[in-house]
Amino acid sequence: MTQVTLRNIVKEYEAGLNIIPDLSLTVEPGELLVLVGPSGCGKSTVLRMIAGLEEITSGNLLFDDQIVNDMPAKSRDIGMVFQNYALYPHLSVAENLAFPLMLRKVNKQEIQQKVKEVALLVGLDTLLDRKPKQLSGGQRQRVALGRAIIRTPRVFLFDEPLSNLDAQLRVHMRAEIVNLQKRLGITGIYVTHDQAEAMTMGDRIAVLNKGALMQIGNPKEIYESPANIFVAGFLGSPTMNFFKGEITMQQDQLYFIEEQGGAQFTLPTSVLSSGKTLPKNITIGIRPEHCSPNAMHEQDPIWNANIEQKEYHGHEMILHMMSGGTRKSMRIPVSDIYKSSMPINVHLNLQHICLFDSDSGLRL
Ligand SMILES: Nc1ncnc2c1ncn2[C@@H]1O[C@H](COP(=O)(O)OP(=O)(O)OP(=O)(O)O)[C@@H](O)[C@H]1O
Ligand SMILES: [Mg+2]
Repeated sequence: MTQVTLRNIVKEYEAGLNIIPDLSLTVEPGELLVLVGPSGCGKSTVLRMIAGLEEITSGNLLFDDQIVNDMPAKSRDIGMVFQNYALYPHLSVAENLAFPLMLRKVNKQEIQQKVKEVALLVGLDTLLDRKPKQLSGGQRQRVALGRAIIRTPRVFLFDEPLSNLDAQLRVHMRAEIVNLQKRLGITGIYVTHDQAEAMTMGDRIAVLNKGALMQIGNPKEIYESPANIFVAGFLGSPTMNFFKGEITMQQDQLYFIEEQGGAQFTLPTSVLSSGKTLPKNITIGIRPEHCSPNAMHEQDPIWNANIEQKEYHGHEMILHMMSGGTRKSMRIPVSDIYKSSMPINVHLNLQHICLFDSDSGLRL
């Protein structure tokens, strides 16, 4: 199992235009690290540098203790799966699977054996004679997967491999990929902009914004203890509620007023870590599942809101409210009593409130 280390990696496509300003991270042996971030933040660029398909401007890329910056792509022993499968249309499934081995002049018998094994592993054993155009999207994706693993590479790289599939198949394939990666024990880096994919697949998640690492940690850490407003807002659906405004001290309590005449509520001083001074501009973050029409703790802040819209999801309901010019949401059990434009007291679970410095975006 290989450890992959990025040490102060910089990427400029054009001089002075830093797409990746300075990225350092380590992917542990056997781990599946999910690289997640908005479109254009540099995820594919990072992956392509690891694959050797893109030059590294400065910094070092290491496989275990070896610097591989100048190692050609074909010597890096990487299995890569792209969004658009990139199968050979005129070759059968078996021939597509065999292709990486033929390139390496592996003998025929061994190829046949390997194709059989891999086809079983990815569930294509009955489709070996088909051409790609005779396959469904999920089956094609499995051919691409099979082709990437047939040589048992040192490192797996996935670049949004599931984005062309329908929702149900995507969920199914997520589990299959994780299963396969774990079974083979191959270090993997998986790129996606889909936060649900990141949360469910990653041993750890690295959140990228504008080429910079915002936070790296396991899904629970990232979800429950986001380092800044960007990470807090990126993971979770519906997104975390943000109340941007000012806090003042009033009779041993903190009084919060949201900007644009939005929400107002009091908070106990216990939300502050002892000794911390508050910046003037504060953003209070709370996830929709930590808001409730019912009191949870005695000191929970209460926000007087109006229901704008309700969404029925079968197993739960999402109520939407507006304040301070932004939409907020609350996740509740299904109930008939809530109607649009109805006033409602929203209790904010004190134990799950996050405070951010609005100017720096950092968690306090
Ligand atoms: N060959 C190139 N030359 C110049 N700029 C490039 C090149 N490839 C990518 N870029 C730019 O680098 C930035 C990062 O692109 P990249 O493809 O890595 O983003 P991404 O995070 O993978 O986005 P997406 O989620 O849309 O795939 C973008 O602003 C893009 O326009
Ligand atoms: Mg990309």
